[in-house]
Amino acid sequence: MNINENYTKLEESYLFSTVAKKVSEFAEKNPDKKIIKLGIGDVTLPLCSVVVDALHKAVDEMGVQATFRGYGPEQGYDFLREAVKNYYKTHNVELDMDEIFISDGAKSDLGNILDLFAGDNTVLVPDPVYPVYVDTNVMAGRKVIFANANQDNEFLPLPDESQKADIIYICSPNNPTGAVYNKEQLKKWVDYAKSMNAIILFDAAYECFISDDSLPKSIFEIEGAKDCAIEFCSLSKTAGFTGTRCGYTVVPKALGKLNKFWLRRQTTKFNGVPYIVQRGAAAVFSEEGQKEIKENINYYKENARVISDTLTKCGIWHVGGKHSPYIWLKCPNNMTSWDFFDYLLENIQVVGTPGAGFGKNGEGYFRLTSFGSKENTQEAMQRFEMLFGTK
Ligand code: MLT
Repeated sequence: MNINENYTKLEESYLFSTVAKKVSEFAEKNPDKKIIKLGIGDVTLPLCSVVVDALHKAVDEMGVQATFRGYGPEQGYDFLREAVKNYYKTHNVELDMDEIFISDGAKSDLGNILDLFAGDNTVLVPDPVYPVYVDTNVMAGRKVIFANANQDNEFLPLPDESQKADIIYICSPNNPTGAVYNKEQLKKWVDYAKSMNAIILFDAAYECFISDDSLPKSIFEIEGAKDCAIEFCSLSKTAGFTGTRCGYTVVPKALGKLNKFWLRRQTTKFNGVPYIVQRGAAAVFSEEGQKEIKENINYYKENARVISDTLTKCGIWHVGGKHSPYIWLKCPNNMTSWDFFDYLLENIQVVGTPGAGFGKNGEGYFRLTSFGSKENTQEAMQRFEMLFGTK
């Protein structure tokens, strides 16, 4: 038996597991200290009421012979795919039902999609970015190259014709920097991908945070994207489904074999998202659901404003937080990301995510999330002001 030695090329633990371990060690040694977690992008507001009602109703259906359901369609029930299709229409994207695949979240599908691609493809990943893109390709032994994101390009790298790539990851609004591509910039990526016969894997997990109608929420708003892109989305951040688990992936039929292969992959390796969860997810797309989730998103956006205002007062350089739940800041006094992490934990017990965990260009930066409660966010920012003073 030979094991997959590619795993030895990974960091010993996943970024957010390392952060969680450090925090729990600190908590054990300092039981009297109140730790405020603005690290992992996990939501704190409960599911909205229409979703809860739909979940209850579905549970009841499952307890009655006439409405009980066993295995469902692996690609998702029609009622939810129809709701997703109609949601896309609101940003002028027409999809066919068999281009939409319901999943248990974007993270799983972003990893699973790699089943469709040969091992010798070169993968282009922005740096810094969500660590799952690099890790899942390292696990498969693929060559990974990077598109540098930095302050000079406002953390929005554009294609470099001299780089040859087969698989290209784009995350917009970006995790961790909060930067958002406009339509012209995304068109450049689409043209580049087509010129290379490459595929774009577009992570739209934070699209609901975009509040400027001119910014694209889906790569399929860009002409030609259906010929070269797969899109991943999730209800985790949109509707508080981090624990409930539901998302969707769009594989256009224009991609030829890939659409059929994905169906083949899913029907073989996946038994679908639970009926109960899909009913809850469908409620998110109802009129009332959309109204309720917007209130939650605005709550998080207000937290982002509080964080941003405090950082400004403290003279700390930062971006993000406008079309994204993440604020990306430069560590004061040229501290490294992990030094700053320890410094905040030791001194004010505020937890964030070290930028270095998102790639080498993240070194010296730090991410705060606006997904905390209003009270905790305000308290964390009062502690920031105490530590850094007002400039
Ligand atoms: C993050 O904090 O970057 C996200 O919560 C991670 C995820 O969505 O898996």
